[in-house]
Amino acid sequence: MISTVDALRLWSSRWHAAGKRIGFVPTMGALHEGHLSLVRAANERCDATLVSIFVNPTQFGPGEDYAKYPRLLEQDLELLKTVGTPEVFVPSVTEMYPDGFATNIRIGGVSELLEGRFRPSHFDGVATVVLKLFLMSGADVAFFGQKDFQQVRLVEKMVADLNVPIEIVVCPIVREADGLAMSSRNRYLSPNQREQALVLSRCLNRAEQLLLSERINDARQIQRDLTKMVQTVPEATIDYIAVADPKTLQELDLIDAAQTPEVVVLLAVKIGNTRLIDNRLFAIDP
Ligand code: PAJ
Repeated sequence: MISTVDALRLWSSRWHAAGKRIGFVPTMGALHEGHLSLVRAANERCDATLVSIFVNPTQFGPGEDYAKYPRLLEQDLELLKTVGTPEVFVPSVTEMYPDGFATNIRIGGVSELLEGRFRPSHFDGVATVVLKLFLMSGADVAFFGQKDFQQVRLVEKMVADLNVPIEIVVCPIVREADGLAMSSRNRYLSPNQREQALVLSRCLNRAEQLLLSERINDARQIQRDLTKMVQTVPEATIDYIAVADPKTLQELDLIDAAQTPEVVVLLAVKIGNTRLIDNRLFAIDP
């Protein structure tokens, strides 16, 4: 396990000196099968795999769950042994943000929509920490989950805009057997709320039916239909339900395969106090 930036640089320079490629999986820990799928993808495509575990304070807003976010390092390290024991970077908050730290990476456009409307400085915190991690790890390829669809778009935009020499690979959403997208935050749910949380994946199934079987092209009608579905769940509060262009994340009014051959449906719903997100990408037949 590595905990300082200097030691991380030494580790990566050794791999690069040997002509090897480093794959990187940034996480906030409380690892589950979703994270492990990213590690496996990195193992397959790269010579060395690095996982970072850092609960990044700057991406949590006031009143969010930074203090109670699960910190399960021992358990995480055990889980990583089941996927080839990658190198693990676990910095302290002061290692990442020393006294006087004053830089903020803000990505225009995509970071202001959807999640950005409900979590105003969240993506600044994500972009800043991800760029720091990319630079200090010197990784060649980074692996992200489609679970955080907007985060992927943001990281891709940052990498393109700032010419960061890293390849971004996006991996599919890993779900529980009943459809709930795996998330470190699922452990906040009571058994009853866990049942209620299934409304997110049910909504995405309904979206599939409306988009692909019924071929409804009025995006607002789909949004209203899904909204009604979520509103039947007692402890659910909707932040947003969006039918959007996957490239720009702009919400659509009309679905036209010629304009948007793919459509993404994104949901952010609180079940009690637990905020959950999910999404699915659909290819629209002309
Ligand atoms: P975290 O929520 O721990 O997620 C780390 C990575 O795991 C992200 O790329 C996320 O999309 C992916 N992931 C989470 N659940 C998944 C699932 N069910 N299936 C597939 N992949 C899944 O995302 C973050 O941490 C942070 O914002 C971070 C990028 C580490 C910056 O602090």
